[in-house]
Amino acid sequence: MKTTTFRSLGVLLSVFAIAAMMPVSASAAEDEVPTFTKDIAPIFQAKCEACHRPGSIAPMSLVTFQESRPWARSIKDRVSSRQMPPWHIDRTVGITEFKNDRSLTDEELDTIVRWVDGGAPRGNPEDMPAAVDWPDESKWYFADQFGGPPDLIVESTPYTMAAETGDAWWRPTVPTGLTEQRWARAIETRPSTAEGRKITHHAISRLVQEEPDAQIQRANAANSVGGVADRSRGAGTFMEWAVGKQGELMRPDSGKLMMPDSEIAWDIHYAAVGEEITDTVQLGVYLYPKDAPPKYRQVLHLMGTGQMDIPANGTAVTEGFFPLQRAGRVESFQPHMHLRGTAMSMEAILPTGRRQLLSHVGDFNFNWHNSYVYTDDVAPLLPKGTLLKITAWYDNTAANRSNPDSNVWVGSGSRTADEMGHAWVNVTYFEDEEYEAEVAKREAAEAAIGGGE
Ligand code: HEC
Repeated sequence: MKTTTFRSLGVLLSVFAIAAMMPVSASAAEDEVPTFTKDIAPIFQAKCEACHRPGSIAPMSLVTFQESRPWARSIKDRVSSRQMPPWHIDRTVGITEFKNDRSLTDEELDTIVRWVDGGAPRGNPEDMPAAVDWPDESKWYFADQFGGPPDLIVESTPYTMAAETGDAWWRPTVPTGLTEQRWARAIETRPSTAEGRKITHHAISRLVQEEPDAQIQRANAANSVGGVADRSRGAGTFMEWAVGKQGELMRPDSGKLMMPDSEIAWDIHYAAVGEEITDTVQLGVYLYPKDAPPKYRQVLHLMGTGQMDIPANGTAVTEGFFPLQRAGRVESFQPHMHLRGTAMSMEAILPTGRRQLLSHVGDFNFNWHNSYVYTDDVAPLLPKGTLLKITAWYDNTAANRSNPDSNVWVGSGSRTADEMGHAWVNVTYFEDEEYEAEVAKREAAEAAIGGGE
């Protein structure tokens, strides 16, 4: 044993000796302690500043070295446990590429940890990258692209958040004012004032209308929604918004159908920030011209998992099945549970009986309503007759750190103390021929990447 140790030490020493003679070497760079200005600031700009900057929702700014340095220990803690940035999908299973991925790469995480372990040094001020020019949030994000403000703006009724209080969920329903059928091509949600941005954690807007498509209506009816007051009357959610998200542009030639007399049901999560603030949230919708509707319809479905029956100091699992009445492409997955919810998965059960795990959120956190949006190349294409299976896991023991009381039985309901288990899933529907064409396109693209195999 001893000789081996000596020998490898000898090898190491000679490597160092060679490295020391060379002007720059890879191994020397790896041993160097990363600095804030050169290595950390670019990561914080890309992955943290959306929330950690003055006037946004996080408790502190991480823009400058002076602001970040006191948090070094806590930063290491939160990034190593992958609590920050908030992104709770299991990165090792199912589909792993997302359009809106804000998680750290393993390399970024490693750099941050080495910076903290190395004493969190500042580095050369000249290495500091230019400050990020954050978009002017008083302007609509798509205004330049579409030549002005949205065609339709629906505003939530005002809510006043006290200076010091627990989190609040505000759920007003507001008419869209539409008198005829229209198609949405882009959607944007934003708190209406800078003050409002401080308290608005996330806002979900649900489109409430009669579902005109009999097949979609059947799919919704066949799904056991358990525990959810079905305010959508079958039409599904419109859009979910959280801090850092700018807007949602539909894929080419696809859109969301809005019916006359539709309404928007809001679900807004406010958090207190030490001052009293009154806020409204605005939903801006850019519409397709009346005479040029899109070819494909995208529907955000609520996929439930049935009634909860969670024993005190116990655990439970619920599951639900959503039939695809037509072929489609699954665009996104957003789990929704309350304080006992710990994990949720979405699987596809194909008409052949074959199963495919699409996504698993293994570390659910009620404070964060992430919608995981698949990239174009990997969003699953599924044939008619596929069942989407949603499985939800609950932990009502004291081991669950979010659990407010492990000694009570928990059932279904929309109060935070009750439980819920459903996913919001965006589906773009195709006719069979269109689906075949999409599959062929995907296969051709994969073959091109794989060198023609
Ligand atoms: C989507 C918004 C968002 C992003 C992105 C984000 N954070 Fe946070 N962060 C928050 C919020 C809100 C809190 C306070 C609530 C909480 O602790 O969950 C927080 C809390 C923290 C805390 C704990 C502060 C304390 O009180 O101890 C640390 C440390 C932290 N974030 C670091 C980071 C780092 C580092 C990044 C980027 C690598 C990051 N966060 C990205 C929103 C965000």
